[in-house]
Amino acid sequence: MKVFEIYFSPTGTSRRVAHAVAAALAGPDQAPVDTIDATRVPVAGAKLPPDGIAVVAVPVYGGRVAPLALQRLEGLSGSLTPVVAVVVYGNRDFGGAAVELAAFLSARKCRIAAVAAFVGEHSYSTEATPIATGRPDEADLADAAELGRAVRLKLADSAWTEADATRLKHPRSGLLSTLRFARFVLRYRRHPERFAASRAPRTDAARCEHCGRCVRLCPNAAIAKGDETHTDAQRCIRCCACVKGCPAQARTFTTPFAPVLARNFGRRKAPVSVC
Ligand SMILES: Cc1cc2nc3c(=O)[nH]c(=O)nc-3n(C[C@H](O)[C@H](O)[C@H](O)COP(=O)(O)O)c2cc1C
Ligand code: SF4
Ligand code: SF4
Repeated sequence: MKVFEIYFSPTGTSRRVAHAVAAALAGPDQAPVDTIDATRVPVAGAKLPPDGIAVVAVPVYGGRVAPLALQRLEGLSGSLTPVVAVVVYGNRDFGGAAVELAAFLSARKCRIAAVAAFVGEHSYSTEATPIATGRPDEADLADAAELGRAVRLKLADSAWTEADATRLKHPRSGLLSTLRFARFVLRYRRHPERFAASRAPRTDAARCEHCGRCVRLCPNAAIAKGDETHTDAQRCIRCCACVKGCPAQARTFTTPFAPVLARNFGRRKAPVSVC
């Protein structure tokens, strides 16, 4: 069984979960794992073999699969290949993303062996507004490995049936947190001008060392080499890869969502899966 790990992962949390699931799928003999990183380049005409198994992991943006992830995976198809569909979210809610990803993969001739939602450090998390800091952590990665082993076992039975993404349970947030967040979103939508928000990260020119790391990390070519203090807001998907990856802490992204998320979604949510 050939194992594939396929991901779109600007800040690396989906990649780490995919890797842990894939390593366990590869089994004790450590069958080689083929990596398809769709973060910065589209998957061009990748057809998964019928005797393979793939883990596909993507982040959740606004309760959906990050739109650029779906664009990047457009060229992926299977040959009734079993896949593990994984969405990774920032401890608020994964909304309809798992169902969306499973449907996307089914439409591309993949068979859904399992569906899961894992928590990753929120893209907007900072020292001042920590949101799921450090996740996936050891416990999450142990759960990811457990999922890989469970899928391996499941596929050993040739009569295995597909997992139903709609059965995935959503870990609960407290009622008060949910209400406070909903109220904030309403206020923000009605009067966005009242909140300090930027369309894209800003760069502190005095700190920038022009190392070009942000250029390499950006999934959508929103930063040009040699002009790192400028960001193309039209291309920016606000993934915060450049903010987290800047060695000089020159880049910052101001969003009113960060403090609200930090205040209301601090309670740890565990990974969930259906297999
Ligand atoms: C634009 C945007 C929207 C997001 N929306 C959600 C969301 O609806 N729910 C949530 O829990 N996390 C949300 N997140 C957080 C990401 O899903 C989370 O940080 C994920 O681990 C990022 O994956 P990556 O490390 O693979 O890039 C959002 C992040 C961004 C940048
Ligand atoms: S990663 Fe930071 S220091 Fe390097 S070019 Fe980008 S903004 Fe400048
Ligand atoms: S410029 Fe925007 S899209 Fe590019 S890495 Fe930074 S936040 Fe992500």
